[in-house]
Amino acid sequence: MVKDISYADYKKKSDIHGTVLYPATMIAPVQHDFLKAIMTEEHIESVFDPFFGSGTSLYEAMLIDTDVELVGCDINPLAYLITETKLKGIDSELIDEDIEQLEAHMNSVQPDNHTFFNIDKWFRADVANDLRVIRQSIIAIENEKNRKYFWCMLSDIIRKYSNSRSSTYKLHVKEKSKITSMENNIREEFIKSVSENRYFFHTYSDNTELYKDDTLSILPNFPDKRFDISVTSPPYGDNATTVTYGQFSSLPLRWIDPTDLCLEGWELDNFSIIDSRSIGGLVKETCLDEQQMKIVKPYVSEISASKQKKVYLFFNDYFRFLNQICRVTKKYIVLTLGNRRVDNRLIDLTDITCQYLEINEFANISKASRKIPLKRIPRTTSSVNDESVLSMNEEYVLVHKRNEA
Ligand SMILES: C[S@@+](CC[C@H](N)C(=O)[O-])C[C@H]1O[C@@H](n2cnc3c(N)ncnc32)[C@H](O)[C@@H]1O
Repeated sequence: MVKDISYADYKKKSDIHGTVLYPATMIAPVQHDFLKAIMTEEHIESVFDPFFGSGTSLYEAMLIDTDVELVGCDINPLAYLITETKLKGIDSELIDEDIEQLEAHMNSVQPDNHTFFNIDKWFRADVANDLRVIRQSIIAIENEKNRKYFWCMLSDIIRKYSNSRSSTYKLHVKEKSKITSMENNIREEFIKSVSENRYFFHTYSDNTELYKDDTLSILPNFPDKRFDISVTSPPYGDNATTVTYGQFSSLPLRWIDPTDLCLEGWELDNFSIIDSRSIGGLVKETCLDEQQMKIVKPYVSEISASKQKKVYLFFNDYFRFLNQICRVTKKYIVLTLGNRRVDNRLIDLTDITCQYLEINEFANISKASRKIPLKRIPRTTSSVNDESVLSMNEEYVLVHKRNEA
């Protein structure tokens, strides 16, 4: 199996994964190496990612074998749009023409009255007007693949020019002086982005099945051993208090035309609803069985009583996920995990997961780790010689193989 996964020099900007930002993404070459190691050793027909986010693992599996079946799910409509676009690509024959049309349209229309709750809080008036113009121009593009590609490129620009700080995934308004001094180059940057990034979107797959849903509700619908490989990085705590994928996505989602989004209907009700409906967010009571309790208790009992409940609620959903993933996976489970701290106590998700998979017929065949700088996630800082140092967190990749019958 893969030994060195440090990839300290990996720069997303040099591949498709750098074209649109998403929180807590996997490191593409790491996923590529593990998938390649498995896919060269054995015949693999299907790869499943139950929390696909920006689609890193599914895209890398496609690069290894464009015929492999790619199945995945995410609750976040922005994740769905990004992953769908990465896996379906653009229409190469029409893209030049469509970029020309986009530019011409942007130069000829006036802003319409597109609006949403608190638009003035999150966007300066001139920025909102430019976004209105770009939005109308994208809607006028007929080709669906190219239109969706334009929305993806716009989502990064929206975040950059919003009044929310880029230092956090949460919505947090910038200082007034920073908002007023921001230079507006939206139109130029957008055209530059769609022109330069198009070259990354030529590979595509015709063998995909993507769900915009709660994984816990769709997993029971799959038959036993449906997928050869399940590969994913699940949230490592409830989204509202760890990584707020939903809040991060909420501003772009208010600009993208809903007809190009896969929506169940509740996603735009408020800015944090996606996080509160994500793993660990909806359950009210825990019902961990004896075995599950035995594994998590040593970690959770160390933290304050007031915080225990939330952590147990997360594990309630997490074990439901692990039970299902063991049932639907035929050969390999590949998990990228982070261990978080609550009350400065380590919740060793990696150890908990490893133990649980081992007793559910999946033996661990590899465990690798790499250091990650957490730029936008709250982190502890320590002090050495009176100088504060940024803490590094570790990320683990576990590979488990189903025991021979
Ligand atoms: C760690 S991220 C995945 C990142 C992905 N591996 C990548 O490289 O972009 C976890 C994802 O789980 C999704 N998620 C959280 N709860 C979910 C649920 N109950 N059902 C489906 N997706 C969920 C979040 O929206 C987020 O995209």
